[in-house]
Amino acid sequence: MARITHLECTKCGQRLSADTPQTVCPQDGGVLYARYDLNAIKATLSPGQLRGRACTMWRYAEVLPEAEPVSLGEGFTPMLPSREYPNIYIKDEGLNPTGSFKARGLSAAVTMAKHYGLKKLAIPSAGNAAGALAAYAAAAGIEAYIFMPKDVPMANRIESEYYGAHVTLVDGLISDCARMVGERKQIEGWFDVSTLKEPFRLEGKKTMGYEVAEQLGWRMPQGIIYPTGGGVGMIGMWKAFDEMEQLGWIGPKRPKMVAVQSAGCAPIVKAWDEGKAAAEMWANAATKAAGLRVPKAYGDYLILDILRKSRGTAVAVTDLEIMDALHQWARVEGIFAAPEGAAALAANRKLRENGFFDSQDTVVLFNTGTGLKYLDALDCAQQRSRKDLPTSRQIAGIIGPY
Ligand SMILES: Cc1ncc(COP(=O)(O)O)c(C=O)c1O
Ligand SMILES: [Zn+2]
Repeated sequence: MARITHLECTKCGQRLSADTPQTVCPQDGGVLYARYDLNAIKATLSPGQLRGRACTMWRYAEVLPEAEPVSLGEGFTPMLPSREYPNIYIKDEGLNPTGSFKARGLSAAVTMAKHYGLKKLAIPSAGNAAGALAAYAAAAGIEAYIFMPKDVPMANRIESEYYGAHVTLVDGLISDCARMVGERKQIEGWFDVSTLKEPFRLEGKKTMGYEVAEQLGWRMPQGIIYPTGGGVGMIGMWKAFDEMEQLGWIGPKRPKMVAVQSAGCAPIVKAWDEGKAAAEMWANAATKAAGLRVPKAYGDYLILDILRKSRGTAVAVTDLEIMDALHQWARVEGIFAAPEGAAALAANRKLRENGFFDSQDTVVLFNTGTGLKYLDALDCAQQRSRKDLPTSRQIAGIIGPY
């Protein structure tokens, strides 16, 4: 493991070797960060050398684990200038394999699982991470054991089954799924790839930070609005910014990081508003944005620290605001977003109205997945409000009940 010098606990600083599979800090359960010899990398790699490399997240190979990638072409997604708002960019993660940004983290985690010779991986998931694990495990010839709420979007269940994963549908939330994986993993011989409970999903997700910088010409935006469940993408991007500064690729300036959550499950927003360093478990979590239905994030202390250090904020938006934003993005931008991604647009509207951002600010909104994975949920929502049904003009040529 030449490039990674060690793994470091984010709570106590303890160092662990990356030569064998690791989970969390044995001392205090802290999240582990992979550390690299950035000085050595700085001496041999400059941003200019990235030109012409593969348009996947593995173009940043020097700051990723040194192992044969299990890749399906993830990353280097489009950074689209908004047609509606000047200086707003939409980072469209819906174009990833399996239709969401979860592909990045699971590509990295499965790469390392294969490298370590692990045979059985287990995951509790709100839906998209399950599909991504199932796909990458299939590509790696590894078994995947998936636990997800029984009301996940249908696409997540069906794709996982097609990829050959062992799927268990749970009458509960992702936190119940996590408990079940925790209880059984020892007896079953599963390695747990839960969010932030192994170090490499974070390494995959951090590549979004490298891409934001590269695609904006190595200039930091004023803000990044990120739909936050477990918060891995936000934590990963922040780690990437620190690495890039040490590599001399960017300066000390950082974007204001904004965590957007659904009003039906907003533990980070509540903790932020109350000035707390960690979040409490959110009771009765409910939202159409399945990926944001995370009642307690394992890395809550890291997310809240990033919001503070970046002078960012946390915003809750309702499902109605999410649905309105989803329609708007589809009609104005030509982007059919996941509800989680649409939450970023809804938050952007609020933050412009209340003056947190102004029209001069360059802000990147993350659409974390494609709406195509939510057809069942979105169709139900549409049927409930007839005014949103397509007009005959929109479906010209088809004779139907409209
Ligand atoms: C589409 C989508 N967006 C956002 C999230 C939240 O991601 P994170 O756990 O990195 O905060 C998820 C998680 O399932 C998701 O599927
Ligand atoms: Zn520790």
